[in-house]
Amino acid sequence: MADRWDQNPVALKTVGDNPRLGQVLISQTQIAERVKDLAGEIIRSYHQGESFDLVIVAIMTGSLIFLADLVRAMPLPIRIAIMMVSNYPGASMESKGVKINYDVKEEISGKHVLVVDDILDTGQTLFTVAALLRERGAKSVRTCVLLDKLLPEPKCIAADFVGFQVPNKFVVGYGLDYDNLFRNYPAIAVLEV
Ligand code: IMP
Ligand code: MG
Repeated sequence: MADRWDQNPVALKTVGDNPRLGQVLISQTQIAERVKDLAGEIIRSYHQGESFDLVIVAIMTGSLIFLADLVRAMPLPIRIAIMMVSNYPGASMESKGVKINYDVKEEISGKHVLVVDDILDTGQTLFTVAALLRERGAKSVRTCVLLDKLLPEPKCIAADFVGFQVPNKFVVGYGLDYDNLFRNYPAIAVLEV
């Protein structure tokens, strides 16, 4: 069986007549380099003298792969908490409204919090989560996304740390899914419809 996505007939036909992998926008190497730089930027901005105190709230499931690489490039005492939020459930490519399916269990009050997500699209997800964590008494809430989608209209929130900007297309790979597929594709590709 072929071990490369571009050679594997099963991978290429995964979703039959449905949307499938198109143009690669960001390669594995580009992601790896940028994620390391991003981790450096985050570390520098949170380091205050000797103290470093940070809770990362990762929005699952999209941030799964990004989170794993990002935190391993941050050799500091970080607490990781997860939240499951859906905005594009199942096979939808349009926002269906932000829904919290699993809430964060870590104590947030009095903590510096960095919310990590895969992609900033309209901003509804990050805006909702950041507001909730502030309401719960976080000392600070900042946001980090691997991708920021370029939209013609203004967004309700801007991310503090951004890996890459991408065109206004539906993208998959490196944690981002369509119908829960393609998360394990190692680069970022456009979904062809
Ligand atoms: P927003 O709430 O409109 O900013 O959308 C952000 C959420 O929607 C992210 O957490 C993603 O899970 C999902 N999303 C938005 N655009 C895409 C995309 O192009 N591919 C995959 N998921 C996306
Ligand atoms: Mg998501």
